[in-house]
Amino acid sequence: MNITEVLRLENITKIYKQETHQVFALRDVCCSLNKGEMVAIMGTSGSGKSTLLNMVSALDEPTSGDLYLLGKKTKEIFKEPHASDYRKANIGFIFQSFQLLKNLNVEDNIALPLILNDVSQVEIRERIGWVMKQLGIDKWRKHRPTELSGGQQQRVAVARAIITNPPILLADEPTGSLDFNTTKDIMNLLVQLKEANNQSILLVTHDPYVATFANRVLFFHDGQIINEYHNTHQEQDLDIILSKFKEITRGGH
Ligand SMILES: Nc1ncnc2c1ncn2[C@@H]1O[C@H](COP(=O)(O)OP(=O)(O)OP(=O)(O)O)[C@@H](O)[C@H]1O
Ligand SMILES: [Mg+2]
Repeated sequence: MNITEVLRLENITKIYKQETHQVFALRDVCCSLNKGEMVAIMGTSGSGKSTLLNMVSALDEPTSGDLYLLGKKTKEIFKEPHASDYRKANIGFIFQSFQLLKNLNVEDNIALPLILNDVSQVEIRERIGWVMKQLGIDKWRKHRPTELSGGQQQRVAVARAIITNPPILLADEPTGSLDFNTTKDIMNLLVQLKEANNQSILLVTHDPYVATFANRVLFFHDGQIINEYHNTHQEQDLDIILSKFKEITRGGH
């Protein structure tokens, strides 16, 4: 694996001001993501996982701390229009709820990021062909999302996320609404894609099985990374991840 650092977060703190008090959603978080690496984030509800993805995708600005993209400090990315340029060029999103547009067929859903990027019709056709082949979804080209199963819809959503070939994929509970076999399918697909395209994936999950597909697992509690595990891709991973996750949920750290 090429170990070039794609992303580095240095002392990222995020404080939300709620009506009566402040919430420290992230406290001095330091972590990195290498090229071709999948990192899973696990943690209790409210521990700051989605907030972290929001910082990485420049949907929201940290209260303090620095973000580095390919070694370059990128303070300005948090301000529009830099934020949307940065997102378009570097980030693909996969959500738990797929977020496909009901009135568009599969092909048009997938093409959307390209249309928004003003890509030519010829290139759109080429890229759709490429992505359909990678994901084996050609047969649903003209279907509406409502005509597809959850797993099929998530495949389409993965296709939409990778159509611009972004170096970084962010996924918040991508298998949260899928059954075991479909989860396995989608995770194998993500591993395959990351290996074929050298993409880096940051994935939030509450499912220890999903976390076994990653190279590393970061455990979040109360806005901090309190533990980390490097998967060995052997049977023991699942038990170790499960026990580390239980430690957090029990508050026994
Ligand atoms: N826009 C916001 N305004 C105010 N507080 C927020 C906002 N977004 C998140 N928070 C607070 O920040 C903390 C972290 O929230 P976050 O959504 O990152 O948690 P999470 O780990 O993703 O949880 P879950 O597993 O439930 O999705 C929580 O206490 C939450 O209430
Ligand atoms: Mg969340």
